[in-house]
Amino acid sequence: MFYTDKTLCVFLFFALIPGHICSARIKYPTVLISILARNKAHTLPYFLSSLERLNYPKERIALRYVDRIRSDHNIDNTVEILEKWIISVQHQYHSINSEYVDSDSYSDEQGPNDWSMLRFENVISLRQSALNYAKTAWADYLLTLDCDVFLTNKNVLHYLIAKNLTVVAPMLKSSGLYSNFWFGMTDDYYYLRTGDYKSVVNREKLGCFETKMVHTCVLIDLRKIESDHLTYVPENVEGYDGPRDDIITFAVAANKSDIALTVCNEEVFGFLMIPLEQDDTIAFDMLQLTNVKLEVLNEQDKLYVRDDLLEYTVLPEKDTLDFDKIFMINLLRRPERRKRMLDCFDELGLDVTILDAVDGK
Ligand SMILES: *[C@@H]1O[C@H](CO)[C@@H](O)[C@H](O)[C@H]1NC(C)=O
Ligand SMILES: *[C@@H]1O[C@H](CO)[C@@H](O)[C@H](O)[C@H]1NC(C)=O
Repeated sequence: MFYTDKTLCVFLFFALIPGHICSARIKYPTVLISILARNKAHTLPYFLSSLERLNYPKERIALRYVDRIRSDHNIDNTVEILEKWIISVQHQYHSINSEYVDSDSYSDEQGPNDWSMLRFENVISLRQSALNYAKTAWADYLLTLDCDVFLTNKNVLHYLIAKNLTVVAPMLKSSGLYSNFWFGMTDDYYYLRTGDYKSVVNREKLGCFETKMVHTCVLIDLRKIESDHLTYVPENVEGYDGPRDDIITFAVAANKSDIALTVCNEEVFGFLMIPLEQDDTIAFDMLQLTNVKLEVLNEQDKLYVRDDLLEYTVLPEKDTLDFDKIFMINLLRRPERRKRMLDCFDELGLDVTILDAVDGK
């Protein structure tokens, strides 16, 4: 039996009535993913691996990666990891553009995580340049992404685009109540915890919600005319009297232009890490990474890493926490629990002796 496209279409039409199969096929909208990184080599293998697993057609995605590297502190292997990844995936994407910005110029900075004024200025200008770049490149959508986000839901881009909103963020979980949205904002534009926040973060209430602020992983529909009013630069917002802060400016610009900032938690989309405070060390961030990985393990499965990036991940040396032995008792007929616990022990560096339980049945 031989069908032309048309006869197959007519046949399918009567068989299944799938209206859209018969219409002219249309390419997916183009998405520019803009990634801003800094001192994050320890998260990169996880970040890049989950990014790559998104099921959105890669030929419709352009990636722009900007890392604020400190040339005097060439402590991590960001460049090596990134270049390795780019070489193996770049043929699949529309394009990948990586740029390393020397951040030594933050002369007023107290430490690697200090949010100095100059650094804020730098982030403002980098975020704005990503937005301008996306517009110049005629991207339909801009996804701004920080590289301590692990998007575990492969469908997230399709989902967000289908929402047809000007600004939308997938709710991301972390250890504790930290997330990538604010429900409340004080009169002087700072964070305010409000009543509903907890039930949304814990996904007791599900849906899409208007917020005061979304950050860290945000999709902007640049085809919407109103998106032209979005900006990260305080000077671009008439009458702006808030702090010089990229995400607060963005939130105020959106509000003044009547653009809703929506967060959705209908599905588990992914996880994020809590940003470092001034005195936090990279070692502390590694600990946070462990916490998030355990959170992911608890909710779904092991956080995925490409085989060729595994060498850049570190697991702690195993010990028994000064006890003589640590035991785990597990029923052989619950292999999935055993596997999950063994994965947890790997993450936590616990040397555990497994005992097969005797089934009470
Ligand atoms: C998407 O939203 C715009 C308004 O922002 C509306 O005009 C358009 O019809 C919507 N598209 C779909 C497919 O719902
Ligand atoms: C802008 O902020 C005001 C005051 O918080 C609020 O009432 C209004 O709904 C906001 N507008 C949008 C589009 O979110």
